[in-house]
Amino acid sequence: MIDIHTHVIPGVDDGAKNMRMALEMIEKSYTEGVDTIIATPHCMPGVYNNIVNESLAKKWNTLYQTVKEEGIPVHLRKGMEVLLSERSMKLIKEKKVWTLNNSDYLLVEFAFDEDPEWCTEKLKEVAELGYTPIIAHPERYDCVQAHHEIVYDWYMLGYGIQINKESLLGQFGRKEKQTADSLLRHNIVTCVASDTHRLDRRTPGLKDVFEYLNDRYGGEYTHMLTKANPLRIVNGKPMVGYKPIPYEYEE
Ligand SMILES: [Fe+2]
Repeated sequence: MIDIHTHVIPGVDDGAKNMRMALEMIEKSYTEGVDTIIATPHCMPGVYNNIVNESLAKKWNTLYQTVKEEGIPVHLRKGMEVLLSERSMKLIKEKKVWTLNNSDYLLVEFAFDEDPEWCTEKLKEVAELGYTPIIAHPERYDCVQAHHEIVYDWYMLGYGIQINKESLLGQFGRKEKQTADSLLRHNIVTCVASDTHRLDRRTPGLKDVFEYLNDRYGGEYTHMLTKANPLRIVNGKPMVGYKPIPYEYEE
């Protein structure tokens, strides 16, 4: 499997605190069947000031080299999780953010209480700059929990939809789980990722969620969500999916 959303670079955000923890997180992912991991530190101007610069590149290189030296057979790739705001839009324009493995795919998130029209406007601006937004954990946003159909509109605009494993496993709460399952039933999810931050909660690996998906949605869908689409994203290829089901047809 491939995990496109993780916070494993030590000391750059609220993810791995140090190298030891980062290595444990990466090893745990591997033992759970993940062979490729994209490290996606927060780009959140004013909170986590990660941008493309020498300091972040150095931290990334140290992690990359250490994983190799330790012999952990995981392909580590780089990316970022960009919180969309006026300030981060400027960074995107100036090419100061890491896309997912240097592709045109950009992992983006919103403040949980953001206005949905503002979100759509910003996503369109990102797309106009030549990137395809991959929307991180939409099931956690207030507007989406109230109106799942917002995600249908985003999906139909060609954006990627990434849900979190912990939402599906019910570890964030009932609303997150219900929303994530609803998006899956409507075929408007591109992939599932761990969004791992540490070892005790928000954990690395995709084993539990693989089993959940496999039992509930079947092997083919599970493969698409945990392997086929993440691989396409890593390789900069078009994402695939089943025919989306609009919300007006829901019982
Ligand atoms: Fe994240």
